[in-house]
Amino acid sequence: MKVIICENYEEMSAKAADIFAAQLTLKPDSILGLATGSTPVGMYKNLIKMNEAGKIDFSAVKTFNLDEYYPIKRDNSQSYFTFMNENLFSHINIDMANTHVPNGETDDAEAECKEYEKKLAAAGGVDLQVLGIGQNGHIAFNEPDDALFSYTHVTDLTESTINANARFFDSADDVPTQAITMGMASIMSAKKIVLLANGANKKDAVKELLNDKITTSVPATLLKLHPDVVLICDKDAYGI
Ligand code: PGA
Repeated sequence: MKVIICENYEEMSAKAADIFAAQLTLKPDSILGLATGSTPVGMYKNLIKMNEAGKIDFSAVKTFNLDEYYPIKRDNSQSYFTFMNENLFSHINIDMANTHVPNGETDDAEAECKEYEKKLAAAGGVDLQVLGIGQNGHIAFNEPDDALFSYTHVTDLTESTINANARFFDSADDVPTQAITMGMASIMSAKKIVLLANGANKKDAVKELLNDKITTSVPATLLKLHPDVVLICDKDAYGI
């Protein structure tokens, strides 16, 4: 895993956006794997600016998001569907038909998971994936456990994740307790991965990435098996 340490969140976001911009220059019809949460918002802001300035073009791009709460209405202000529209899609020249977020309002979540994997495979797999990391070391909603799932599945959220995400809801009781998430194999099949971490609350999770161990109790450590991962973090997350 390559590691880039940045002064602050702004530098981390700019560097990550540069990698995405380079990807679109090299392959305008890239399949991008996208993430929600606070971490990638700065990168999305940079990409919006580059798109507005005519430096990058999303017209041929397809996107697949990592996860979505379950159940949740797409028009709920905290759904990841709404998050993506507000933080990226509505500001760039992407064809909305080319964007994919797991459907959190389906009655048949198992069928949705299978369908999502099929769409991902039919698109040819993700060229460049952005990931955040949970304080507990999760990636997407692959929570620490004795065993992890390979493909898109429904999962229970851990207390740590519910508490971490409660800041976006009126209270922790309002956070959905389940999610639809890509699995570890779905994520690891991306050709290139940019993992972002900022803030001192990510320090312990980042430390686990930098030692030599791989454990399902810190799902992000499985990324050490991937041939092309760059961790871009700020000094606080790196612990210096
Ligand atoms: P955050 O979430 O970007 O809001 O910190 C990251 C994650 O939980 O994967």
